[in-house]
Amino acid sequence: MSYYCFLFLLLLLTNTFAYCESATDQKELTEERAHLSIPLGLPPVPWPADSPYDKKKAELGKLLYFDKRLSANGTISCATCHAAKVGFADSNPIAIGIDGHIGTRHSPTVINAAYQKSYFWDGRAKTLEEQAKGPLTNSKEMAGTDDVHAALVACQERIQKIPGYVRLFKEIFNDDVVTIDNLARAIATFERTILSGNAPYDRYMAGDKGAMTTQQVKGLALFNKLSCNNCHAGPNFTDGRFLNIGVGMEKANPDLGRYNITKDEKDWGAFKIPTLREVAHTAPYMHDGCFFTLREVIDYYDRGGNPNRNLHPLMKPLHMTEEDKQALLSFLEALNGEGWKQFTEPTRFPN
Ligand code: HEC
Ligand code: HEC
Repeated sequence: MSYYCFLFLLLLLTNTFAYCESATDQKELTEERAHLSIPLGLPPVPWPADSPYDKKKAELGKLLYFDKRLSANGTISCATCHAAKVGFADSNPIAIGIDGHIGTRHSPTVINAAYQKSYFWDGRAKTLEEQAKGPLTNSKEMAGTDDVHAALVACQERIQKIPGYVRLFKEIFNDDVVTIDNLARAIATFERTILSGNAPYDRYMAGDKGAMTTQQVKGLALFNKLSCNNCHAGPNFTDGRFLNIGVGMEKANPDLGRYNITKDEKDWGAFKIPTLREVAHTAPYMHDGCFFTLREVIDYYDRGGNPNRNLHPLMKPLHMTEEDKQALLSFLEALNGEGWKQFTEPTRFPN
């Protein structure tokens, strides 16, 4: 009898301890989260349950993001193709990876990636953690081999050899071994802190009627009237759908985008609607980087896109005047905000 009593007590005690511990965890978490300030106009960052915000983890992620030693020959980092100085995007129309390999698509910005529902132009990755493993294992981007498993092991071993990183991983993840999963978690945590909000548009919408110029206010009205907001919707100017607006469809063997993933006819030639936040900084544009200026993009919409069998019905000639185009252009500039410019390339890396 006393044996059961003892067991019962033990159970009670461990439960109480476990409860206390999770309660403190929770408190620390909310305190930590409070340190990440969200710019005006953006919703809270959705953090995954198994990888909440943690300042130290974000700082480690930043080092890894900029560190070329993640690539097979030490020449390419995430920032090579998503550079801080060009709005975390790429000035090359098509990405150039390891040994000068030319990829197939344009590198999108990672600003506000936290809010995306899926990743890549065709949405083939569900989370930022999963996405981060893409370039690390892509033979043309950072890996230099087609063997996905070998690429991950090699990357893990390269980082494991750097004592400064091993210390940080131990401190943050309480693990002596550098794992690819934790590496991806750290990078994704950093990415979720690269934000853009508090733009003239946000201040205008919050009631500061002087935040946008008269021309920008006119541009906003056009943006809605011409149904740009039907697709570029919500606080991040995308609702996450995949649509065919005809880009690249004039080519002999066009990239079929989302269709390659789903094999669903409705996805034929469809690409993820990109954010328009910071768009004035992230030229060139579209999944194939075919337009070098926003003016070219607007002219493209004005003529109704490239005809093809799956073109979205909203893509039709818009008959814009020159003033309309100028107004729309200046409105797009009102989406330049803040929450990302503080992140510059680190000058020192762990050794
Ligand atoms: C060689 C250039 C290159 C390198 C290096 C690279 N990327 Fe990319 N990145 C791209 C391209 C190109 C795409 C789009 C590919 C596609 O859609 O098929 C992309 C897509 C993304 C996206 C998806 C954005 C969205 O809105 O869907 C994220 C996030 C991202 N990369 C983060 C990273 C991280 C993190 C690293 C480092 C681990 C990295 N990239 C390394 C070129 C690169
Ligand atoms: C039917 C949905 C839809 C409508 C309407 C629409 N867009 Fe888009 N927009 C997209 C998609 C999808 C892409 C990416 C296409 C691709 O790369 O193949 C895109 C790309 C863009 C880009 C390039 C962004 C980048 O980072 O590459 C800009 C700028 C843009 N749109 C502005 C506008 C403006 C301005 C309007 C209104 C005149 C508009 N869009 C109307 C769906 C739409």
